[in-house]
Amino acid sequence: MTNKTALWGELDTLAAHLPSLNTLFANDAERTSRMIFQVGSLYADFSKQRMTPQIVQTLLKLAQACELEEWREKFFAGDKINTTEDRAVLHPALRGTGGSPDVKKQVSDMRARMRKFAEKIRNEGKYKTIIHIGIGGSDLGPRLIADALAAETKPALALRFAENIDGASINDALEGLDPETTLVVSVSKSFTTQETRMNTQAARDWLGDYARNNIITVTANREGAEEFGVNPDQIFDFWDWVGGRYSLWSAVGISLQIAYGPDVFDELLAGAAEMDAHFKTAPLGNNLPVMLAMTGVWNCNVLKYPSQAVIAYARRLRKFSSFLQQLEMESNGKGVTRSGAPAGTTCPIVWGDEGTNSQHAFFQHLHQGTQGAPIDFIAVLNSTENRQDHHDAVLANCFAQSEALMLGKTEDAVREELAQTHLSQTEIDALAPHKAFPGNRPSTTIVLDRLNAHAIGNLIALYEHKAFVQSIIWDINAFDQWGVELGKVLASKILKELETNTPVDAHDSSTMALIEMARKARIS
Ligand code: F6P
Repeated sequence: MTNKTALWGELDTLAAHLPSLNTLFANDAERTSRMIFQVGSLYADFSKQRMTPQIVQTLLKLAQACELEEWREKFFAGDKINTTEDRAVLHPALRGTGGSPDVKKQVSDMRARMRKFAEKIRNEGKYKTIIHIGIGGSDLGPRLIADALAAETKPALALRFAENIDGASINDALEGLDPETTLVVSVSKSFTTQETRMNTQAARDWLGDYARNNIITVTANREGAEEFGVNPDQIFDFWDWVGGRYSLWSAVGISLQIAYGPDVFDELLAGAAEMDAHFKTAPLGNNLPVMLAMTGVWNCNVLKYPSQAVIAYARRLRKFSSFLQQLEMESNGKGVTRSGAPAGTTCPIVWGDEGTNSQHAFFQHLHQGTQGAPIDFIAVLNSTENRQDHHDAVLANCFAQSEALMLGKTEDAVREELAQTHLSQTEIDALAPHKAFPGNRPSTTIVLDRLNAHAIGNLIALYEHKAFVQSIIWDINAFDQWGVELGKVLASKILKELETNTPVDAHDSSTMALIEMARKARIS
């Protein structure tokens, strides 16, 4: 039996004898102070997770047995850990952490060029609106941050996004704008992505004579962008060692730089760099990304929760769960290990929405549903933009939910309450089971001091490193995404069949019927 197998077995045994959260709190006055981590502007409380000190220690031993420290070194050293694409993974270098002298130079040249360009656009005042076109990693990060930064900084230009191939996306983005005062920022690492090419084409048509000057492109495929007709002087490069979902720190963030200013963007990078330094050097037991990741491993692999919810109690972080869906599920939604053998259970479904809205939608399921889901609650301590009464209410709701999920309410307690009402015993018997809460539902609460660029940088880098740590435990490659390819190939084939009205004969009968339906609708 390997050390790892033995440790997984130990974790299973610990889970089988796990006291409830209420008991863990009742028996340990130090529980919360022991399970709080603070890094930069973040405070994370793991005490409402169903873990004992022994479980945490065993999880850390498992991380060691999986050679996490060695992998962490390889990652920061720029080894080609993305083996299926033969690439290094160097997004921390974009914020100044690690990288060879050559990489450092490329990054500092890029940052200087971005700053100069952003300042020029801001000073000229020629443009009123930026249309950021991109999808997946070329959209979700900038889109999340564009919202989040608005908490403390007023953008100098309006920033709109177009991502979906559905024409409504670009149409809505362009609605009411003047081509002369609109700057289109087209972002695609590959510059082959159907959505981005089509939306950029639509924007180019709409810009007419302004197209040559008013489109800039950010890509790792300069040749492709030039072929597409983008003015070579308006192309910003990035590199194959930056994965799409880790790319917002590169020139992919140019729209943010222009709208919010280079200094704010630098603060974002500094926040991420602070988390890099912590992740790189802190011992595993004091390491926040490691703790977040191992808590997720415990919930998913040992306690068998099939999903992980993330609820940000901050309107301006409402896109955080969508961002994390790509970050975690595209990174770790894998079925084979690094060597190609079948993997065990890997990444859970990541989902969520904003609080308090979600309380009025799916929290019923979280409180009384049969599966439950561990939750990461994200809260912001100080709001500079909201009335204090609103802000107090948002925090009260956030803290109340994690408490309610953990405490629950026994049927006996419900019965006692109902006995004080006018209800008969028969009515109490009928109602009591419906009003009871199982409780013992785990959560982590992450509190940001303020919603500023630095704290947002801390937060995003925390989850990036979490995904990396989990990939090491699951022995998978977090940095490729072959699973998106098959659908892309079939979509191109079907598109041709729709456009050219060519006979459809190489599909299953269900797909053929659907194509036939669409072709008829197209003709009529
Ligand atoms: O379809 C998945 C994906 O390849 C993501 O990994 C990526 O972030 C997105 O598409 C967009 O890709 P690109 O930046 O090359 O247009």
